[in-house]
Amino acid sequence: MKIAIIGGGPAGLYAAILLKKQRPQAEITVYERNRADDTFGFGVVFSDATLDNFEKYDPPSYRRITQEFAYWDDIAVHFRGTVHRVGGNGFCGCSRRMLLLILQERARELDVALHFETDIDDESRFADADLVVLSDGINSRFREKHVDHFQPEVDLRSNKFAWMGSTKPLDAFTFIFQETEWGPFIAHAYQYEAGRSTWIFETDADNFAKAGLEGLNERQSADRMAEIFGWFLDGHPLLINRSMWRNFPMIRNRRWVKGNMVLLGDAKATAHFSIGSGTKLAMEDAIALADAMAQAPTVDAALQKYETGRREEVEKTQHAADVSLVWFEHVDRFWNFDPVQFAFGVMTRAKAITYDNLTLRAPEFVREVDKAFAKQVHANGLDVDLDKPVAPMFQPLKLREMKLANRAVVSPMCMYAAKEGVAGDFHLVHYGSRAIGGAGLIFTEMTCVGRDARITPGCAGLWNDEQQAAWTRIVDFVHGNSAAKIALQLGHAGRKGATKLMWEGMDRPLEQGGWDTVSASPIPYFPDSQVPREIDRAAMDRIKAEFVAAAERGNACGFDMLELHCAHGYLLASFISPLTNTRTDDYGGSLANRLRYPLEVFAAIRAAWPAHKPMSVRISATDWAEGGITGDDAVQIARAFGEAGVDLIDVSTGQTVRDAQPVYGRMFQTPFSEQVRNEARVATMCVGNITTPDQVNTILAAGRADLVALGRPHLVDPTFTMRAAAWYGADVACPPQYLPGKEQIFRNSVRDRQDFDDLKIKGKPKTRAELKAEATKPLAAE
Ligand SMILES: Cc1cc2nc3c(=O)[nH]c(=O)nc-3n(C[C@H](O)[C@H](O)[C@H](O)COP(=O)(O)OP(=O)(O)OC[C@H]3O[C@@H](n4cnc5c(N)ncnc54)[C@H](O)[C@@H]3O)c2cc1C
Ligand SMILES: Cc1cc2nc3c(=O)[nH]c(=O)nc-3n(C[C@H](O)[C@H](O)[C@H](O)COP(=O)(O)O)c2cc1C
Repeated sequence: MKIAIIGGGPAGLYAAILLKKQRPQAEITVYERNRADDTFGFGVVFSDATLDNFEKYDPPSYRRITQEFAYWDDIAVHFRGTVHRVGGNGFCGCSRRMLLLILQERARELDVALHFETDIDDESRFADADLVVLSDGINSRFREKHVDHFQPEVDLRSNKFAWMGSTKPLDAFTFIFQETEWGPFIAHAYQYEAGRSTWIFETDADNFAKAGLEGLNERQSADRMAEIFGWFLDGHPLLINRSMWRNFPMIRNRRWVKGNMVLLGDAKATAHFSIGSGTKLAMEDAIALADAMAQAPTVDAALQKYETGRREEVEKTQHAADVSLVWFEHVDRFWNFDPVQFAFGVMTRAKAITYDNLTLRAPEFVREVDKAFAKQVHANGLDVDLDKPVAPMFQPLKLREMKLANRAVVSPMCMYAAKEGVAGDFHLVHYGSRAIGGAGLIFTEMTCVGRDARITPGCAGLWNDEQQAAWTRIVDFVHGNSAAKIALQLGHAGRKGATKLMWEGMDRPLEQGGWDTVSASPIPYFPDSQVPREIDRAAMDRIKAEFVAAAERGNACGFDMLELHCAHGYLLASFISPLTNTRTDDYGGSLANRLRYPLEVFAAIRAAWPAHKPMSVRISATDWAEGGITGDDAVQIARAFGEAGVDLIDVSTGQTVRDAQPVYGRMFQTPFSEQVRNEARVATMCVGNITTPDQVNTILAAGRADLVALGRPHLVDPTFTMRAAAWYGADVACPPQYLPGKEQIFRNSVRDRQDFDDLKIKGKPKTRAELKAEATKPLAAE
């Protein structure tokens, strides 16, 4: 077999090594345009887990790599004169030059042919090869040559960055967030060998221009960075080596394989430097290719196997990198944060590290985070324990005069069980049991303001006395048997009205017994849905009056809070999104115009709703669709409602149009809550695939939301909050009838948690830094 490899970076060299081990008879050649020791850049970093993988696939190169590496466990975050260190991370670094020399040497040992100073511009010279590996890096010539086939998507990110080096020694992966007269500058730095560290500097395009970096050469810009970070560099110089400022390209390719050619490494997919996974991805691509070649009967089958088997893993890493890079791009959102909360945000930005996880390895740090959180709660006028604060999930929150005992919320969820809009026994048990279960706040399902405002025939309403009496019974039960507060969500279905019960066909039109629907514009939801009537001024007035009447009834029922439903494509949302509002009058066109009617309704019910009771608005912070609402629009929408007196924005997303492309995942809507909260400076509630108390604490502690709502988790577990309180040792109200159960779970949880933590600690392998420290510990210290 003949294999040609274009590009002698980590991907190409490691692929050569693994393939040659597998097929000693194969003729494998690597073509590299640079000289052998002519490598650019400074250090690379790997996690312990990545090294474990290398050990499995090629012990000799692994051994040499690990002999050369610098190890560290801590991440240090410097921000506004403070430094927070968090241990247990398990990283190591080495120089890129050394890594490549080790891989070259190993390849030579195995009889791989290495041709340096050989720039390949035409793959046709490899017509006789069985396999051609395109590992020619981030600016891959061959990816571009076959652009129509590979269909790359190159997303050039907005921040500017440059890669430099220094002689400054570092004992931790170091982030420095530096205030300057031009705005924030960030350094990502780590040591990779004795006396050498990598320094990646990053800032946004505005600050870059304001700092006058635009016209400077490499040396001059390094000098500017040395001025900014001089206090930390301690007189150590900044070194340059092709240290040009660039914008990071996130690269993805629709196809990875063309005939017998295959993309590997940066040519195929990049991962932002802030998660340090570029070289890992490149070398693990080589592993995946070698595995596929070992397992499949033909090259064709192997390449298909490589692409299908590897894509998900690569996309997962790229997603984590995306989340992380977006955090750095928007660092000014957090610039006014308490430094420890800021550091917690840095640590947890990419979702892999969480509150519980940090509690195990950096308990002091988490205690500080808890204290800072409690201090903010205290500053808002609530009397909480500042010395031994409970976890953020169990900190109270005050909105106007309403005080919530904790921050866990039952998200609004239609039960489709009402008869003519009247909530019945099912609702009493449903809301009652969740209130007893300990949540701080319970939302009702979307409660419709008129008969024709209903989504389905099973939706609850609040337009007549019978419905009012039914809701009063539920509110009284909640208040009489729990510490929970209960909020009424009011809505009008708009073009999604007259549709079937969820389990009979969500959003599908009723076959019989429907009613006429209205919307901002006459656009049906499905092509075969009812075409809604474009709402006119008279109907707008009538529906506004229905909202006011329902709000007044809600107050009479005793609800503690009122939410206006302006999300998910229902009537008020249909005004806000340009995808569902094509009006040419004062209620269409600009966002300000599209917001006019929802704001009018909000103002009318705010006036009718008692001043001491809070109000929230639920929005879809993105339509997940081309031309629709975006996160930036959501900030404007939140500001507009904020000016109108809203106390909380309930940040949901989507459900506006059928062809939306939501990107699901754990906590997938939380980034929108974070953006709205920290840019519009309004309290938010986040929701969406949040399933554990650990996630709730992580979100709250990082300042990404003020309340966390859980929908589906509460459908199966009414006692979600009670159980979490037992786990974290926080108190939660419980009716006397259930006290023996509470006492038992609280007692058992202390032991269960201890066992669980012990198991986790025991099960966690020692990091290489820990092992090295143990191995080099002087005997006298034993
Ligand atoms: C600022 C910055 C910081 C980074 N920090 C880290 C980090 O901390 N950790 C980490 O793991 N990764 C990091 N990376 C990423 C890492 O450098 C790359 O992801 C990794 O090198 C990709 O390996 P590769 O083999 O795919 O590509 P490359 O290393 O780019 O190798 C491609 C090779 O192909 C050669 N070549 C290109 N075209 C041709 C041709 N036509 N003919 C012959 N040869 C050709 C090039 O000369 C090059 O040697 C960083 C990247 C940047 C930009
Ligand atoms: C059965 C069901 C009914 C729902 N009904 C409503 C509703 O009436 N009003 C509303 O704003 N959201 C409604 N939602 C959306 C939830 O409030 C929540 O935003 C969504 O389920 C995502 O949260 P989760 O991942 O925690 O379930 C409903 C969700 C479910 C599962």
